[in-house]
Amino acid sequence: MDLSVNVAVVYYSSTGTIHRIAQELADTAEKAGAEVRLVRAAELAPRAAIDSRPAWAAHLAATEDVPVAQVEDVLWADAVLFGTPTRFGNMSAQLKQFIDTLGPAWFRGQLSSKVYSAFTSGGSSHGGMETTLVSIYNMVCHFGGIIVPPGLNENPYGTSHVLGSDNLPVGELALQSARVQANRVVRTARALKEI
Ligand SMILES: Cc1cc2nc3c(=O)[nH]c(=O)nc-3n(C[C@H](O)[C@H](O)[C@H](O)COP(=O)(O)O)c2cc1C
Repeated sequence: MDLSVNVAVVYYSSTGTIHRIAQELADTAEKAGAEVRLVRAAELAPRAAIDSRPAWAAHLAATEDVPVAQVEDVLWADAVLFGTPTRFGNMSAQLKQFIDTLGPAWFRGQLSSKVYSAFTSGGSSHGGMETTLVSIYNMVCHFGGIIVPPGLNENPYGTSHVLGSDNLPVGELALQSARVQANRVVRTARALKEI
């Protein structure tokens, strides 16, 4: 029986926070023995909006080489980690647009029985990060997927980083949470393949 586990980390990030967490999840999953694809949802914002924020334009340029997420990445995966910045208590339009391209695969039943988990970041600690994570888990119910949250952790719903007014970079708290989450996702996906 093939017990190798394929993990897709599918994320959107404007200014690098979610990209940093995505990298930690991907590295940890790889160390846990998984095959990993780290892919980004395509940028949809108008060029003028991107250029109005130097950190956004710089991050987009710096991650040009990260492959753009394709439906095939999700089909290939046994476990999918979705990451997005919190946008008004919800996921980003960019990640949602990618997820909407999964419609035909959903209809064919190809998204079910995979493991799914989510991560996010926000400007403030009560700014709706958990509703963002739950908005992803809502969709996973439609997929028929298996939700694997990190559980007892910095945020039981999924790794989350608060930037605050000082624009704090991702710190050890969120990175530690990401490691717990990635290990749990790989372990669960592997156990499901054994059934
Ligand atoms: C349009 C917009 C809406 C946002 N809405 C929220 C929000 O509801 N709650 C929150 O805590 N932060 C909010 N933020 C802050 C972002 O979540 C924060 O900049 C992001 O997590 C940084 O991630 P990134 O560096 O990966 O882009 C918002 C930012 C933008 C641009």
